[in-house]
Amino acid sequence: MNKMLETILISTIMILLMVATALSFMMGLSHPVPWILLALLIITIALAKKMTGRHFLKWNDSYSVGVVVLDDDHKRLINLINQLQTAALYHTSDQYEKECFDALIDYTKTHFQREEQLLEENGYPGLEAHKKQHQAMIDQVGNMVAEYQQNADVTIEKTISYLKKWLIKHINGTDKEYSGFLNERNVK
Ligand SMILES: [Fe+2]
Ligand SMILES: [Fe+2]
Repeated sequence: MNKMLETILISTIMILLMVATALSFMMGLSHPVPWILLALLIITIALAKKMTGRHFLKWNDSYSVGVVVLDDDHKRLINLINQLQTAALYHTSDQYEKECFDALIDYTKTHFQREEQLLEENGYPGLEAHKKQHQAMIDQVGNMVAEYQQNADVTIEKTISYLKKWLIKHINGTDKEYSGFLNERNVK
């Protein structure tokens, strides 16, 4: 289901249930209806939380590359993607969406530079191939940002979906390949 429709539908159901529950308590505390409605409201809130939660990335210790400063960067990138997801999900202002995009792109570049510098300083043999992956990602996001100017709603979802998949795949694949190499050189 379209995320906007999903948000509107869930919000409407919750508001209706809240009003109905509040009004039903006028029947008296001994009446079963208000308690049934209250239970339905609690279940709806829990389901809404679960449905919303699945759109967000969550850091998992298995993503660790064994280097604290790089893990911290990856955690920050996950937070920035989630921030952009929040902006898209709740249809915040275009200005806020743009700020989230800019913050994510800026920090992605900062992280790539830090990671590449650390690999270069330690003479990592796979550096050039790794750099190419980073550059391909920056180029892809650049294209998506250009598309975003044409069709914001479609592009933002497409971009977030790409970023979520790319980041987790890159951390768990290409980034983890340097873990042992750096740890052996006391970079932790
Ligand atoms: Fe990387
Ligand atoms: Fe990385």
